[in-house]
Amino acid sequence: MRATFIAAELQSAKDAGLYRQLRLVEGEQGPLLILDGREVINFSSNNYLGIANHPALAAAAKAAIDRYGCGSGASRLISGNMTLHEELESKLAEFKSTQAALVFNSGFQANIGILSTLAGEGDVILSDALNHASIIDGCRLSKAQTLVYAHCDLNGLEAGLKQTASARRRLIVTETIFSMDGDEVPLAAIVELAEKYDAMVMVDEAHGTGVFGANGAGVVAKLGLASRVLIQMGTLGKALGGFGAYVAGSRELCDLLINRCRSFIFTTSLPPAVMAMALAAIDLVQSEPQRREALQRNCQKLKKGLSRLGFELGRSESPILPLIVGDAARCMALSAALLERGVFAQGIRPPTVPVGTSRLRITSMATHSDAQIDRALNVFEEVKRQWLPITTS
Ligand SMILES: Cc1ncc(COP(=O)(O)O)c(C=O)c1O
Repeated sequence: MRATFIAAELQSAKDAGLYRQLRLVEGEQGPLLILDGREVINFSSNNYLGIANHPALAAAAKAAIDRYGCGSGASRLISGNMTLHEELESKLAEFKSTQAALVFNSGFQANIGILSTLAGEGDVILSDALNHASIIDGCRLSKAQTLVYAHCDLNGLEAGLKQTASARRRLIVTETIFSMDGDEVPLAAIVELAEKYDAMVMVDEAHGTGVFGANGAGVVAKLGLASRVLIQMGTLGKALGGFGAYVAGSRELCDLLINRCRSFIFTTSLPPAVMAMALAAIDLVQSEPQRREALQRNCQKLKKGLSRLGFELGRSESPILPLIVGDAARCMALSAALLERGVFAQGIRPPTVPVGTSRLRITSMATHSDAQIDRALNVFEEVKRQWLPITTS
């Protein structure tokens, strides 16, 4: 069979302005990148604290390889449960103020696995409209009824809870810092609703961990809600600078996942070097609050500068600034115009964001210099002046 549909699918993505291509980064991940052969200032990374290339992480990874070797050789339940997996889980539990934690190979695998373990037929998942693709796919995989409430809409959530009183179990799932909008969920109010209607709460702290809370433990910690949120999920690949993910919660929750969660059970466990990097990263996050302060300063400088230029940046309260353009093709053209001038701010299109809300997702890093931010603001100004089709909505 000649699979002509492949070329047709690619063409239709191109026609819709939705065709995606990989770009090549040579060298390290930092505030400056060599992208497709050119040096650019990087405003498109989740390496918010700038530790992805920190010598402490590299040294920990090298020492782990020397001591434990490279691969783990098997899944956790066979022979792949190594010393560093358990060390990291103890450290994560302490970091997140929970009884236990469990490491997953990625945030995507964690979300699909946790949701499909905790909810099934006869259950209801109440999910924010802007939740990440991995949460959406976890809801689908679970076979539970999924009610999607409007973004951060507490009335909509409460209506959903009232309407599903007869369900076997109900689970509310939300990001704490939304990945493409950077706004913070009203978590205390959600927890109260959950308690009032006897529902479970699961949070995705992919973009909160490392950035919020006194020790960088995230939004749940900042609000003192650790004992009232049943499932705290997060990743090790964003502010923590490495790779992988975790869930933090009760010992029973982790034991249930060890027994039932297919994306935990049926996969080779992460290698020792990755665990060692995460251990070193948590130490850095806890002991160097100045990184969060620098991130906050850079974020405010960029935000103020872009607002002064007349760009609308939504309700972000985090290092993620969405500059909404609307149309996908125009968004990519704006991103390309910036890139030509040495500023990398990735355009984000459907299905990552809803149709008509294509945007630049501009992210700050603790390690951006003032000069780099000033340079970027000059470029934004120049592009706005010379390339006028930007009317942000
Ligand atoms: C909110 C959110 N959850 C989960 C994930 C997936 O995490 P990972 O990259 O570790 O698979 C991401 C990453 O893109 C994310 O933004």
